[in-house]
Amino acid sequence: MVNQPHGGRLISRELTGLNRNEAIKNAEKLQSITVNSWVISDMELIGIGGFSPLTGFMVQADYENVVNNTRLADGMIWSIPITLPVTEEQAKNLTIGEQIALRGKDDIIYGTLTLAEKYAYDKKKEVQSIYGTTDAAHPGVKKVYEKENMYLGGKITLLNRPDHSQFAEHYMDPAVTRKMFEGLGWKTIVGFQTRNPVHRAHEHIQKTALESVDGLLLNPLVGETKSDDIPADIRMESYKTILENYYVKDRVRLVIYPAAMRYAGPKEAILHAIVRKNYGCTHFIVGRDHAGVGDYYGTYEAQELIAQYEEELGIQIFKFEHAFYCKVCENMASAKTCPHDKENHVHLSGTKVREMLQNGIRPPKEFSRPEVANVLIRGMQKN
Ligand code: ADX
Repeated sequence: MVNQPHGGRLISRELTGLNRNEAIKNAEKLQSITVNSWVISDMELIGIGGFSPLTGFMVQADYENVVNNTRLADGMIWSIPITLPVTEEQAKNLTIGEQIALRGKDDIIYGTLTLAEKYAYDKKKEVQSIYGTTDAAHPGVKKVYEKENMYLGGKITLLNRPDHSQFAEHYMDPAVTRKMFEGLGWKTIVGFQTRNPVHRAHEHIQKTALESVDGLLLNPLVGETKSDDIPADIRMESYKTILENYYVKDRVRLVIYPAAMRYAGPKEAILHAIVRKNYGCTHFIVGRDHAGVGDYYGTYEAQELIAQYEEELGIQIFKFEHAFYCKVCENMASAKTCPHDKENHVHLSGTKVREMLQNGIRPPKEFSRPEVANVLIRGMQKN
């Protein structure tokens, strides 16, 4: 059976049809604050139920418990603060109980917030707990340091969604993926988070997982990523290409995950698992240095943390060793399955691969499928 949403009920905080038209008209008259694309993507995920059981931006009791105990105020597991930052000046001018329009920089009103609370927060404490470091060179920490100093908490209503028309065919709400899985007759579904093209190691762990379940949800994150990650549109082309050439059609679905990347390693792995549970997945893959960046996290730290919560999380975690191609085995392998010396293993860093692609050089076929490399080279040279 398709998995239960986190908290047991799929949240919908979106208005449609006449109610929406009316709400937009009313929102035009409200005080508004301008929010960035990160906040808009969080609103979207709350609105469509990807972040169930959240119904809005966190109030202080939820925020503090997430930072201190990896739980919402009611005790449910949650690992990343979902917050709405504003300046002290803005906060001063807003009254508890009032409705506020949340506008994008494009002037579109994406939704409204019913203001329940405004509170100051400790950035150092937040980043130390969530990112495990206070280093401003960490891309997620940097984002927190750049935020305004107050948070607003309260329920939201989504009135407009960000534009995903370029990926329209692959954009689905959790309610839709759940129905789709049922229609396909999949009872067990493994979710795969990625912010990179699918390389051989990814393919290997996805297919190994697929041997034990009915279907794979390839669920690439397409929200904000750091500037040296491969852009989402190029990645999407590469996903379609690898699926076409190397996967069984009826065993995989490609659906975008419209969130921003935090690079919070272990804590973000928990969020990633919760969201995929909401999309209906029964299983989730956590491999090597999941959601990591640089050397901030140990190779298996995400697996170790999520293992502590796994039973309560209600989604089974497939944990994978660092996978590589071994020239002696002539196969994908890991330290668990390959007895040969390291010099036989094909390893390439993300930076090295990007450099090769930008210079029109194909990474070896042991690292990346040639069809994928071609798409990436074309895309990276255009950029
Ligand atoms: S992530 O930031 O989205 O985690 P990436 O797209 O590289 O980055 O990884 C997607 C998933 O594949 C994560 O679960 C990650 O741990 C796993 N993974 C990536 N490369 C390997 C590898 N060589 N061996 C095992 N797991 C891997």
